[in-house]
Amino acid sequence: MAEPRTVVITGASRGLGFASAVRLYREGWRVVAAMRTPDKGIKLLREATGAGEDDDRLIAVGLDLLDPASVAAAGKAIEEAVGAPYAVVHNAGISAAGMVEETDMALWQKMFATTVLGPVALTQALLPSMRAAGEGRIVLVSSEAGVRGQPATAPYSAAKGALERWGESLACEIAPFGLGVTVLVAGTYDTEIITDAGTTDDRDLAGPYARLHQTMNTRGRFAMKMARPPERFADGLVRALDDAKPFRRRGVGPDASMLLAFNRILPAAGMHHLSRIVLGIPRQGSMRGGAWPLTTVQKAMVLVARVVPQPVLRRLQSLAAKRSKGNEEL
Ligand SMILES: NC(=O)c1ccc[n+]([C@@H]2O[C@H](COP(=O)([O-])OP(=O)(O)OC[C@H]3O[C@@H](n4cnc5c(N)ncnc54)[C@H](OP(=O)(O)O)[C@@H]3O)[C@@H](O)[C@H]2O)c1
Repeated sequence: MAEPRTVVITGASRGLGFASAVRLYREGWRVVAAMRTPDKGIKLLREATGAGEDDDRLIAVGLDLLDPASVAAAGKAIEEAVGAPYAVVHNAGISAAGMVEETDMALWQKMFATTVLGPVALTQALLPSMRAAGEGRIVLVSSEAGVRGQPATAPYSAAKGALERWGESLACEIAPFGLGVTVLVAGTYDTEIITDAGTTDDRDLAGPYARLHQTMNTRGRFAMKMARPPERFADGLVRALDDAKPFRRRGVGPDASMLLAFNRILPAAGMHHLSRIVLGIPRQGSMRGGAWPLTTVQKAMVLVARVVPQPVLRRLQSLAAKRSKGNEEL
């Protein structure tokens, strides 16, 4: 029987990495689950897959991307355990909220260490054996925010953009040796990273950007309702691991695929306006001097007040007042 192909997945303790590790194990891969908490994680992975303790198709390796010594040790441990992996999926990530002006420099450093520097160092450690094997794939998990910089997530957007760019460079460098790179642009999935608990919050909700935070917060919460289960992301990863071209960039999920399509068609200025409209950012200059522009809903209310006859409005107001009084008494 043919040896199973080996895949290393970072951030396999939970979320998309955990779901992917489980799925790839079931698909017959040998899975090296790299994470900060390998002892706890391997137990959960064994429970989810039914793998036994002596099953060498499921291995956990310690990896903290913020610690260069841990990254070097992980590279060594992986080679000792499995030799040259066929694929490395750089999945681990963190998220943060805040405008450029609001975000702490320590947050930028942590973001780039997690998304760029740690993954580059791990890739450097594993490439010599992968190159010698003459086949394999580096998969980089990016985001819609890496395709187009989004407001209030600049450190995340910038780091994901950088991830995509070093992936493009790498693809040209390693293709002659028989290897390739796939950038997976993930859509919205139901994991901790999209929740308040899973996000470092540097927003100043009472500062000059308060109006923008208010609208973006409402729209963000609406988008979260569309989040798909992490297992759907694993479908896209399974396909990506069969990519044979030197470089591919794939959207995983309808929202990501749609954004990639718009990004191909629209000029950069058009993409700016699309982001602005989707996120409810007021037009250029409208907040000069501390102005507080109305939201779309508020504008609609003003329009309704103009066109609906006064007696009807008064009747609606009294009905609304009665209703809110009723709710208070309950
Ligand atoms: N979910 C989405 O909607 C979405 C959308 C676009 C892109 N993505 C990307 O998908 C990837 C996976 O995210 P997720 O949704 O699965 O989020 P998640 O549930 O929050 O999982 C994040 C993973 O990254 C790991 N991690 C964080 N910092 C680390 C470090 N210093 N060293 C090693 N591991 C570290 C975490 O490990 P611990 O358990 O030790 O904290 C965890 O396993 C990320 O790159 C994210 O940017 C997700």
